[in-house]
Amino acid sequence: MNVKKISVGIIGASGFTGSELCRLLLEHKYVAKIIPISRERKNFNRSHPNLAYSNLKYSTLNELPNKLKSLDCVFLCTKSEDSYNLAIKILKKNIKIIDLSSAFRFENITYFKKAYGQLQKKNNILSKKKITYGLSEFNRNKILSADLVANPGCYAIAAILSLIPILKKNIIHLNLPININAINGTTGAGNNPKIQVSHANTTENMLTYNAEGHRHGPEIEEKLKAISKKNCLIDLNTSHGNFRRGIHMRISLNVKSNLIKKINRDKIIKIYKDFYNKKNNNFQFIQILDTKRTLKKNEKDYDLYPSITNVIGTNNCLIGIDYDKSIGVIKIISTSDNLVKGAAGSAIQNMNIMFGFEEDTALTKYGIF
Ligand SMILES: NC(=O)c1ccc[n+]([C@@H]2O[C@H](COP(=O)([O-])OP(=O)(O)OC[C@H]3O[C@@H](n4cnc5c(N)ncnc54)[C@H](OP(=O)(O)O)[C@@H]3O)[C@@H](O)[C@H]2O)c1
Repeated sequence: MNVKKISVGIIGASGFTGSELCRLLLEHKYVAKIIPISRERKNFNRSHPNLAYSNLKYSTLNELPNKLKSLDCVFLCTKSEDSYNLAIKILKKNIKIIDLSSAFRFENITYFKKAYGQLQKKNNILSKKKITYGLSEFNRNKILSADLVANPGCYAIAAILSLIPILKKNIIHLNLPININAINGTTGAGNNPKIQVSHANTTENMLTYNAEGHRHGPEIEEKLKAISKKNCLIDLNTSHGNFRRGIHMRISLNVKSNLIKKINRDKIIKIYKDFYNKKNNNFQFIQILDTKRTLKKNEKDYDLYPSITNVIGTNNCLIGIDYDKSIGVIKIISTSDNLVKGAAGSAIQNMNIMFGFEEDTALTKYGIF
C-alpha cells in the first residue's frame, strides 16, 4: 500500500494515556514523526523509562503554534476544560484532533447537563467543524470525515459494547436503571498525585468514587439510545482496584417476565456471537467468551468469565455471559484495558479510520498474560 505517512502531536504526553499513545504509535508504520508535548517536563526518557530508547523528546506547549505547521493530527490527553480550549486553537489551523477527554462527547445538551450539572460554553469555530463520537465500531463513516473525534470514556466503551447486542433484542426490562459495577486500575485516576491513590492506600484495598452519578452514565445512555434506539437509565458504580490497569465490568439485566423460562446461556451467547460476527472484520477487537460449563452447579468455573489479564496491552473488549434463570437475570462480564481500548488504542483505531490506514495498524489483539 502506497500511503502518505503522517506526523502527530500528543498534548499531555507525560500522562498515562499520553505515554500509552507514544508506546503504540512508535510501532505505527504510517506515523513518521511523534511530537510529545509537556508544559514543563524536559526529559522524556526520565518520565517514560519504558520508552527510553525511542529518541522521543518533549516539546513545550509554548512551542505548539510553531510545531502545528508540521502536524497532521493532534491527540489531546488533557482534562475536559483544557481539551476544550486547546481544540479551539488547533481547529483554527485545520488540523485533525482526537480528544481523549469528555469535552466533545455529547451531542444532546440534556445528557451533557446530566453529566456536568451545567451547560458547556459555545464557540463559533466549533459549529463550523465536523465533530463526532469515536466509538470506532459504530461510527466509521463520520469518523472518516471528522475534524475532531471525541474518544469515548473508558467505562462507556466497555458498557456500550457489552449492552448493544442484547438491547437490540426485546428481551430486557428497561423500566428500572441498568446496574453496572466496574473496577478500574489506578491508572484510571490519572498521574496527578493524590494521597488516596498512593501505593499505601490502594494496596490490598479498593476505592469507590462518584457513586452519586458517574459522568460516563449519561454518555452511555445517550450513545445506547442513538445506536439501539432504546431509552435506558444507567446506574454506573465505579471503584479503583489494587492493580494498575484494566477494567473489570459486571452488568445485571432483568429479563422480561414472559421470557425468563424461554432463554438460557447458550441462546444469549448466540445473540452476541451473531451480532459481533467476525466475518466482515468490523468487530475484530470484540471477543465473545463461549467457554462451555463443565463443572457442576456451585463449583467455581472461573474459565466462563473474562479476566483483566486476558486483555492487558490489547485493544480488545472481551465479553462473557451468564444467566441466572431462578431470578431471570442476565449477567454480562466484560474486561478491557483502560489505557488501550479505553483510551490510546481506540484513539489510534480512530486515527487509522480518519487517515485511511488499516484499522488495526499498531494495535494488538494478543495479550501479554
Ligand atoms: N487514565 C485513563 O484510564 C483514561 C481513559 C480514558 C480517557 N481518559 C481521559 O484522558 C485524559 C488524560 O487522562 P490521563 O489519565 O492520561 O491524565 P494524566 O495522567 O493526569 O495526564 C494528563 C497530562 O496533561 C498535561 N496537562 C495538565 N494540564 C494541562 C494543561 N492545562 N495544558 C496542557 N497539558 C496539560 C499534564 O502534563 P504536563 O504537566 O507534562 O504538561 C499531564 O501529564 C483525561 O481527560 C481523562 O479523563 C483517561
